[in-house]
Amino acid sequence: FMRMYDIIMKKRNGEALSKPEIDFFIEGYTKGEIPDYQVSALMMAIYFRGMNEQETLNLTMAMAGSGDMLDLSAIKGIKVDKHSTGGVGDKTTLALTPMVAACGIPVAKMSGRGLGHTGGTIDKLESFPGFSTSISTQTFIDNVNRIGIAVMGQTADLAPADKKLYALRDVTATVDNMSLIASSIMSKKLAAGADAIVLDVKTGSGAFMKTEEDSVALATEMAKIGRNAGRNTIAVVSDMDQPLGFAVGNALEVKEAIDTLKGHGPEDFVELCMTLGSQMLIAGGKAKDAEEAHDMLLKVLDSGAALDKLAEFVEAQGGNKEAVYNTDLLPKASIVEPVYSPVDGYIEHIECDEVGICSLILGGGRETKESDIDLSVGIVLTKKVGDKVVKGEPIAYIHTNDKEKLITAKERFLQAYRYSETKPKKSKIIKHIL
Ligand code: URA
Repeated sequence: FMRMYDIIMKKRNGEALSKPEIDFFIEGYTKGEIPDYQVSALMMAIYFRGMNEQETLNLTMAMAGSGDMLDLSAIKGIKVDKHSTGGVGDKTTLALTPMVAACGIPVAKMSGRGLGHTGGTIDKLESFPGFSTSISTQTFIDNVNRIGIAVMGQTADLAPADKKLYALRDVTATVDNMSLIASSIMSKKLAAGADAIVLDVKTGSGAFMKTEEDSVALATEMAKIGRNAGRNTIAVVSDMDQPLGFAVGNALEVKEAIDTLKGHGPEDFVELCMTLGSQMLIAGGKAKDAEEAHDMLLKVLDSGAALDKLAEFVEAQGGNKEAVYNTDLLPKASIVEPVYSPVDGYIEHIECDEVGICSLILGGGRETKESDIDLSVGIVLTKKVGDKVVKGEPIAYIHTNDKEKLITAKERFLQAYRYSETKPKKSKIIKHIL
């Protein structure tokens, strides 16, 4: 016989919870038998007392098993998933998945929509007129077997315990605990069924984790959970102290991803795709080391095979594949306004989440889950940290359909930049591979 009261008290007193205790509260909470206030108290106790490795794994497994576990066994080969902790201008999935699919890795990916200042892959993909991620699990699996790639929206019953718990943590100041974040993210990844997982943990002013130390700790914790759960897991820690690439905004990011597949990608973004892609090819048994993987990825970029794979994927999910070859067919904003550098010097810092908020102000993101978004708007930078600027030259272009929003966004955008007279060091995009 178990009581929630005793479980709360045990954690309050700093003791480790057993697997049956964790299973009991997750099951009871998912069914609605344990009330929010008791679970809130437990979350706060966990926040202060922490959880050890075994507890964290048990919590992850309990949440992963609280709803459907996707069975991908009907897909041949080693399924490798990629997950990013989220950031500004993160269009990685759009370029990376066709690259690895073109190299023979089956990509069966569940993605989400954007919320707050970070975007979501599903919104970006909907920039292709007609594209839908509301496909059945059967179509999802069939498409992966037929063309090697499919993306679907998270099903309602994927890790429902996490959905409830995350919403509760969000309003009780208990989100930012390492074990809780790691188990939340990993429960969804484990339920989504991949054999191997490559994690892209972001660090910096546009990321969930602002310091490199915290990002490494989170990456380590997530990789440990994945490995303890029997999935080959690699974690990459990458820079999010400025937007990734130049484009921020749904259709603008799609265009940048397409340009990358055509061989004209921004340096940092290309390097990130090559690094994550290499890890995916190694985990999927297609390459023996990073060098071989690199060559394979370059080959599918040069030959156009990765671009064609994106077109096949877009068409298979109802989208207009012509937009892959002619990006003028993507949604376009009516106003494109330059933002000029106020000084001579170098860009020293870009407050990354502020750039994400500017895109949100323009209508490119969601304030609440119900908001509609304008796929055409956003910001395209022309310079990055460490670049020289001349007073009066454009540092970015704002794409908008609304003159008033433009004024608000532009003011805020200008505030997000710091300049220096001497050349600052450019930061590396890849910080660690764990
Ligand atoms: N993202 C999640 O999915 N869960 C967390 O707890 C934090 C970020």
